[in-house]
Amino acid sequence: MKLAAVVLAAGLGTRMNSSLPKVLHMLNGRTMLQHVLTALYELSPQKIVVVAGKHFKEIKESIIQTNPPNPPLLKVGKGGLPRTQNSELIFVQQKEAKGTGDALLKTLPYLRGFDGTVIVINGDTPLISRETLKKFLSLHKKRRDVISLISFMSHEPGTYGRVIREKSGDVVAIVEDRDATVSQRKIMEVNSGAYAIESDALCLLKEIKLNESKGEYYLTDIIRIARDKGVKTGAYCIGSENEFIGVNTREELEKARQLMKDRIIRRWIDRGVSFVDTTSVFISSDVKMGKGTIVYPNVHLEGNTKVGRGCTIYPNVRIQNSTIGDGAIIKDSTLIEGSVVKNRASVGPFAHIRPGSEIGTGARIGNFVEVKKSVIGSGTKASHLTYLGDAKIGKDVNIGAGTITCNYDGYKKHITVIKDKVFIGSDSQLIAPVKIGKGAYIGAGSTIIKDIPSNALALSRVEQRHIKGWALKRKSKVQSLKFKVTKKERR
Ligand code: UD1
Ligand code: CA
Repeated sequence: MKLAAVVLAAGLGTRMNSSLPKVLHMLNGRTMLQHVLTALYELSPQKIVVVAGKHFKEIKESIIQTNPPNPPLLKVGKGGLPRTQNSELIFVQQKEAKGTGDALLKTLPYLRGFDGTVIVINGDTPLISRETLKKFLSLHKKRRDVISLISFMSHEPGTYGRVIREKSGDVVAIVEDRDATVSQRKIMEVNSGAYAIESDALCLLKEIKLNESKGEYYLTDIIRIARDKGVKTGAYCIGSENEFIGVNTREELEKARQLMKDRIIRRWIDRGVSFVDTTSVFISSDVKMGKGTIVYPNVHLEGNTKVGRGCTIYPNVRIQNSTIGDGAIIKDSTLIEGSVVKNRASVGPFAHIRPGSEIGTGARIGNFVEVKKSVIGSGTKASHLTYLGDAKIGKDVNIGAGTITCNYDGYKKHITVIKDKVFIGSDSQLIAPVKIGKGAYIGAGSTIIKDIPSNALALSRVEQRHIKGWALKRKSKVQSLKFKVTKKERR
C-alpha cells in the first residue's frame, strides 16, 4: 500500500487559553505533535505533511530542532528538507484557520503526483497508537473503502462529531455537536479525527461548503459528499475512548497526560520493571528500561534515557538523557544529566553527574560528589565530597574525600589526567592542566601543580613541626588577660 500522511495542526487552539501553540504542549516528555508523528513514522509513509497555521515557524522548528530522541532520527533530505529514515517531512501553512476541510485542501499541491492512501490525523490526538492505525489501514484496504474514518464509543460524546449510520449500518455523515439535533446528540459513536482517503478522492475536498454557524470548512462533510456521489465510505469503531482523546482544553491535556503516564508504566511493568509506588514516578515516552529494574518513589526518568537490567533507582533521583548500565545502583537524591553510567556502577546518594561524563564499570561515586565532563575508569572510587571536572581518570583509582580538580583559571578550562591505580589522599587539590602518573600516591592535603611521575609519592603540604609546651604558655597568657579585664571592670 502506498501511503502518505497529513497532520492537521493549524487550529487556533483558543480553548487551551495559552500563548503556546496547542500541539506544542508537552505530554510525558514529547509535544502532542511529536506523539502523533511518532505513531506515523512507524507506518513509514512516503511523505508526512504537517499543516501549521499562525505558529508555523515555531511548529516547524520544534520538529527540526528537537532532533527527536525517538528513532527513526530526523535527517536532512533532498533540498534541505528534514526526513526520517523513510518519510519526507513537509510543512504547509494554512494562514487562516478556516477549518479542518480547508487545512487538508492546503496540502493538495504537496500531494500532487502521489497515488495511494492518505492517512489524515488531527494533531491534538496524542494517544493514538501505531497498532490501531495499522489495523485501521488494513480494514480500509480490505473493504476497499475510498474514504473511511476511525470512530469510537464515548461515554461523554461532548464536542466530538457524531457518526450517523443508516439502517444498513453504513456511515452516511458526521454531524458536529453544535450542528446536531437533540436525537443526534444522543449518539455515542463519535469521530476520532483519523481518516484514510484514497488520493483520487481528495478532489472532493473542493466541494465542501462553508459551515455558516462556525464559519469553517469541515473536513467531516466529505463523508456526506462522498455518499451522495456513491463513493464507498467506512467508519471503524476500533480502539478505546482513552486512545482517541482529543485535547482541546487544559483539563483534557491533564487527562491525556495521566492516561499516557499509566500506559507507559503498564508497558514497563509488563516488561519486568518493578515500581515501589507508580503514582509518584515520571517516565518520559522515550525512556527504555531493562527487566528486573526496581524504581523507588519520586524518580524522574527524562528524555532519551536508557536504564539497563537489574538496576535499582532509589527515591528522588532524576536522570535525563543518560544511559545506565545493567546492575547499576543510583542512590537517593541524585541528578544524572547527559552521561553514561556503566554496568554495576554505583552513584549517590546526593551526587550530581553533569553532561558528558562516563562512570566506568563497577565505579563508585558517593555522597556529595560532582562530576563534570569527566571519564571515570572502571573500579575507581570517589566516595565523598569531591569535584571532578574535565578529568580523565583511569581504572582502580582511589580519590580521597574532599579532592578537587581545579579545572578553571578564570579564562579557560583545563584537563586533569589521572592514570590507573593512583591513590589520592583526602583534601587534595589538583591544579589543571596536570598529569598524575600510573600508580602514584598523593599525600592528603596536597596541592598539586606539577605532573607526578608513575609510582611516585607527591607531598606538597608544609612539614609538620611541634613547639613544645606552647599550649600551656597560651593558657596562662589567656588567664592573665582575663584577670586584667576583670580588674578594669571593677574600676
Ligand atoms: C474535530 C472533528 C470532530 C471530531 C474531533 C476529534 C471537524 C470539523 N471536527 O473536532 O468531528 O470528533 O475533531 O477530536 O473536523 N485544524 C487546522 N485548521 C483549522 C482548524 C483545525 O489545522 O482551521 C486542526 C487543529 O489544529 C486540530 C485539528 O485540526 O489539531 C482538529 O481541530 P479542532 O478544532 O480541535 O476540531 P474539533 O472541534 O476537536
Ligand atoms: Ca480537537
